[in-house]
Amino acid sequence: MAKRGKWNSTLGFVLAAAGSAVGLGNIWRFPYVTGKNGGAVFLFFYILAVVFLGLVVMYAELSLGRATQRNPVGAFERIKPGSPWKAVGFLGVFTGVGILSYYSVIAGWTLYYFYISSLGKFSQGLTEAQIDEVFSVFVSNPFLTVLLLVVFIFLTCFIVSRGVSSGIERWTGILMPLLFLILLILSVYSLTLPGAGEGLKFYLKPDFSKVSLKMILSAVGQAFFSLSLGMGAMITYGSYLSKKDNLFASGIEVVAFDTLVAFLAGIIIFPTVFTYGLSPRAGAALVFKTLPFTFSKLPLGRLFGPLFFFLLAIAALTSTISLVEVATSYLVDERKFSRPRAAFLVGAVAVLLGIPSALSTSSSVFSKFAFGKSFLDLMDYIWANISLPLGALLLSVFVGYIWGAEKAALEIRPEKHRKFPGEDLWIYDLKYFVPIVLSAILLFSLLGSS
Ligand code: PFF
Repeated sequence: MAKRGKWNSTLGFVLAAAGSAVGLGNIWRFPYVTGKNGGAVFLFFYILAVVFLGLVVMYAELSLGRATQRNPVGAFERIKPGSPWKAVGFLGVFTGVGILSYYSVIAGWTLYYFYISSLGKFSQGLTEAQIDEVFSVFVSNPFLTVLLLVVFIFLTCFIVSRGVSSGIERWTGILMPLLFLILLILSVYSLTLPGAGEGLKFYLKPDFSKVSLKMILSAVGQAFFSLSLGMGAMITYGSYLSKKDNLFASGIEVVAFDTLVAFLAGIIIFPTVFTYGLSPRAGAALVFKTLPFTFSKLPLGRLFGPLFFFLLAIAALTSTISLVEVATSYLVDERKFSRPRAAFLVGAVAVLLGIPSALSTSSSVFSKFAFGKSFLDLMDYIWANISLPLGALLLSVFVGYIWGAEKAALEIRPEKHRKFPGEDLWIYDLKYFVPIVLSAILLFSLLGSS
């Protein structure tokens, strides 16, 4: 049997896992849900959710992966052979392909926006209406949106097909530092804008009268999506770690990096939006309509526009890599596929499933597909709002009770004979707090109110 992949270094792993976590969820989704939910209050609950739920489940996934050295399906099977628990692994594999299918559509948009902003499209003093028009003309072009979907998935599969260390680790090792550099440049620039004060006030000064249960649950949901939890991505990435690697420190680093990037995305976006008195509540269009408008006005917008969309494309790419990797590792470990065959098969399935999503903005059939939602929104609802919390809930019950939180904790400890800081709290949190909150989210999603 071919040797299983391994990370070359712990840093390589941290960058790859942070690459999975940092994505459209941080730079596109986080600012707009924060904006819609009143800014700073949302940020406050988001950070609580990251620390008390996200980090806890992150350790559960990583420890299961490293202990079993298997893909999600194989990991459950190793701990509890012949039991139905491996269905949770399968759920993860399907969820990965499901998310990949529509996530890559939006990722494709970032490529187009990078392209047109490089050509100076947004530096011609366009009006808001003209910028909306650029967006609608683009997304109603079925050929282009499907083509970009295919290009993005192909790029991802190419990297995954090269292997764990010489594909994923190598590329994320180049892309993540580049991403961080661009992020810093854009943040510093944004803080010099005239609207910085007002933007920061909206973003950082909480108004607790705005708190609602719905808002808190959406902060938790955002934290799980952003940290790539609930579908086995971190089980898979953890499975390429060796016993020497320090799980405890790496988990914190990945979570901290992801949160920092989301935070900086807000620092870039809110001052920019407030500089022109625009609304931070523009929703999903914030990045594709509101920002290009500001770039068309800003001095140096000609430079920072393309830089921003390049950043978004890189962030998306390091995430789609992990979405492809989950199903790929299953096919390689359990079905003995060669890695390139597995990766391209996963990509082909995601393209087929992604085509209706890519057509959701151009075809009347898919733009109102069912339940009043477009096909793309429906996919997002099924995979991100239902499947991910369900996967995370089942995983935490499995690690907490079936495998046993105490055993998992041994895997996390840097020194086997000494508890890691907060170990008792972690065990308690995983067994009681996490399942309760995730059940609430799931219920909320199923009742259709989130
Ligand atoms: N964490 C990614 C983001 O924030 O964009 C999305 C994602 C990637 C979710 C991988 C789940 C996953 F397994």
